[in-house]
Amino acid sequence: MKKEQYNLVLIGFMGTGKTSAGKIIARKMKREFVDIDEKIEAAAGHSISKIFERKGEKCFRVLESNIIRKISKQNMLVISTGGGAVLNPLNIKRLKKNGIIIAFLSKVMIIFNRISAQKDKRPLLSAANRTQGLKKLRVLLNKRLPLYTASADYVFDTSNLTPAKTAKEVLSALKRK
Ligand code: S3P
Repeated sequence: MKKEQYNLVLIGFMGTGKTSAGKIIARKMKREFVDIDEKIEAAAGHSISKIFERKGEKCFRVLESNIIRKISKQNMLVISTGGGAVLNPLNIKRLKKNGIIIAFLSKVMIIFNRISAQKDKRPLLSAANRTQGLKKLRVLLNKRLPLYTASADYVFDTSNLTPAKTAKEVLSALKRK
C-alpha cells in the first residue's frame, strides 16, 4: 500500500488536542475523521463515563481494543485515539501496520486546565478536589509519556498551540517528508 493511503493516527494524553486538531486535519486532507471514543460510545450505547462506572476500566479497554482492531483495517482515515490506547501494545501494533502515528504532548498544567472544563468524558480524572486531580494526572502522565514518544513517528508539543495551529504544523511536517 502507498504511504498516501496510510491512516493518520493521533495519540496523546487527554486534553492535548487530538480531537479538535484531528477534525481540522481531516477536513484539510479531505479524509474521514474517526474518533475512537465516539465509536466506543456508539457500540456500547453508553457514554464513556457510564461505561467506566457500570463496567469498569477493564471492560472499557476491551471495547477500545475491539474498535481499534476494526477501524485499523480501513485506510485513509484520520483517527483520534483515547489517551489510554497506548497502554495495550497490540493497539499500537495494529494502528502502525497502515498508519503514521502522531503524538501530541502538552505540559501538565495546560492539560489540567483544559480538561477541568470538560470532565464528563474523563472519568479517570474525576477526583474530588483540584489537588487530588492534579496529583492523579501527574502519575498517569508520567507513566504514559514514554509510551507516547516510543510509539510515534512524529511528536508535537501542543502546549502553546491552538487546534488550527497544531493542524497546520502536522500538515507541513507531513509535506516535508
Ligand atoms: C482515557 C482518555 C479518554 C477516554 C477515556 C480514557 C485515558 O479519551 O478514552 O476517558 O485513559 O486517558 P481522550 O484522550 O480523548 O480524552
